[in-house]
Amino acid sequence: MCGIVAYIGPREAYPILIKGLKRLEYRGYDSAGVALLNGVMRIYKTKGKVSDLEHVAEGHQLSAHLGMGHTRWATHGEPNDVNSHPHLSQDGSLAIIHNGIIENYGTLKEALLERGHVFKSDTDSEVLVHLIEEIRKNTKVELDEAVRLALCEVVGAYAIVIISKDDPTKLIGARKGSPLVVGIGDGEYFMASDASPIVEYTKDVTYLEDGEIAFIKDGKLSIKTIDNVAKTPFIQTLEMNLEAIEKGGYTHFMLKEIHEQPKSIYDSLRGRFDTSTGNFAMRSLKEYAHKIKNLKRIIIVGCGTSWHAGLVAEYLFEDIARIPVEVEYASEFRYRNPVIGEDDLVIAISQSGETADTLAAIEMAKEKGATVFGVCNVVGSSIPRASHAGAYTHAGPEIGVASTKAFTAQVSVMILLALGFADIKGKKSKSELRNIMAELDAIPAKVETTLKCEDQIKELAKKYKDSHNFLYLGRGYGFPVALEGALKLKEISYIHAEGYPAAEMKHGPIALIDEEMPVVVIATKNAHYEKIISNIQEVKARKGKIIAIVTEGDTKVRAMADYVIEIPDAPDIMVPLLATVPLQLLSYYIAVERGCNVDQPRNLAKSVTVE
Ligand code: F6R
Repeated sequence: MCGIVAYIGPREAYPILIKGLKRLEYRGYDSAGVALLNGVMRIYKTKGKVSDLEHVAEGHQLSAHLGMGHTRWATHGEPNDVNSHPHLSQDGSLAIIHNGIIENYGTLKEALLERGHVFKSDTDSEVLVHLIEEIRKNTKVELDEAVRLALCEVVGAYAIVIISKDDPTKLIGARKGSPLVVGIGDGEYFMASDASPIVEYTKDVTYLEDGEIAFIKDGKLSIKTIDNVAKTPFIQTLEMNLEAIEKGGYTHFMLKEIHEQPKSIYDSLRGRFDTSTGNFAMRSLKEYAHKIKNLKRIIIVGCGTSWHAGLVAEYLFEDIARIPVEVEYASEFRYRNPVIGEDDLVIAISQSGETADTLAAIEMAKEKGATVFGVCNVVGSSIPRASHAGAYTHAGPEIGVASTKAFTAQVSVMILLALGFADIKGKKSKSELRNIMAELDAIPAKVETTLKCEDQIKELAKKYKDSHNFLYLGRGYGFPVALEGALKLKEISYIHAEGYPAAEMKHGPIALIDEEMPVVVIATKNAHYEKIISNIQEVKARKGKIIAIVTEGDTKVRAMADYVIEIPDAPDIMVPLLATVPLQLLSYYIAVERGCNVDQPRNLAKSVTVE
């Protein structure tokens, strides 16, 4: 969602803010703005991208040592210049940037309107800065206290930063439900929605907890809760490096991240199992062995691509550990009245660790007594912090809005957890585990081999770039892969695509097939191979075009399909790690052919911190 960056210190703020906003642009990109304080409060903002903001600001007075910037993903109010952040208080002395949603903004706004406030924008964020001003005026308290009192009145989620014309040595930030990290440099401070704008300047950071407010005043940082309890900042060292958040010679982050998969899968597995003994080194397995041993059911929650990783995990846990699994969209699960309790394990999968629905789902599961494991990529994010245990996926920062390496890292970790659960429950012998581990060891190299299909995919993309629809079919482990392939295509190329279990085709989607319809089929050699061949024949009989993902050396499917893309042979449970890669490349190159903005597809945001 929206991206926030702020700076106070001896350097020029504007270049830091612009660079930071560019790094955060993947979070939201319908408008951008900065506030700079240097005697006067200067606001530059516009609909569009950070580059548009640079044009707007060009030639104006930009020198300041205190400032803040924002990239917006619209929730309240259409994306236009006026609704862009920062927003000012009525008297213009306070400026705010905000990520999140103030749910009771309507009621607050009505009360403020009655008191004579006039609003320029349609945003909930402007209401908050007026509220702070109003409290200050009425109670004559300091700004710090007015912010605290205002936040006590707010229902909803926020990460905010506030600056005041009357106090150029002060920066205030607060969070509830949306992340905010404070960077601590040498005589300078940064605030941002994630560490990417900060890492270039300092590695010392503190992540605010929900309900905390950070005050920087005269070069000192203090933190208190909205209940007025002082907190000692917990300062940690960032592990992220600059290289990881830059494109490194690739045209897009998405392409870089697709190519990083041999390494990201390796990193997600590294040090977590011992192929020579068949033992695991994962804290969650050790600490929760007693629970896992008697586990009767697992519920997996997630959204989008992470939900697809959950579907793969359903097959994994049932196949390998013989534990019944339910996979739920977090957004549905949280609003049902699901039957869960102390005997259940809920696994939340999320790249960002901030997805509002997933976070709410696990809070509900905890209230009902379930144990929660988080499988997340962003270290220190909200979901791992709210979970009892879990495992990071260690894929490294994922900047492209379409999730790629995060998915394969999630699947890798879920394979490990399924194996670990099987070990604890005695469903796999050590020798079986050692064999599977040896196959897992070989996966990064097989992904490297799979990536060699890139030139072939480029040709395919040229051929199919103007298709209006795509169908993706798979069975077993191939089904979630089909769903993921279809999601990738629609989100970055805006071509309508559907993923289906291949056998379900006869129950409706087959009506769509004609000579115009490309059908991507996951047809690797496994127990469903002959069945999927029948499905391919059904498509061919209706003149559909078959693009098949096959196991290397395959001849049967090759004889029927219009195009085949080979992937190395691997156990069925690992096929999603390989078969997804050509589908990622296909969506990428089709989007490029169509001239789409691959890293920032329209209407999407990387981290969905609102429901
Ligand atoms: C698709 C995509 C989204 C996310 C979804 C969940 O490419 O990126 O569907 O998977 O928004 O996000 P996380 O994993 O951060 O919870």
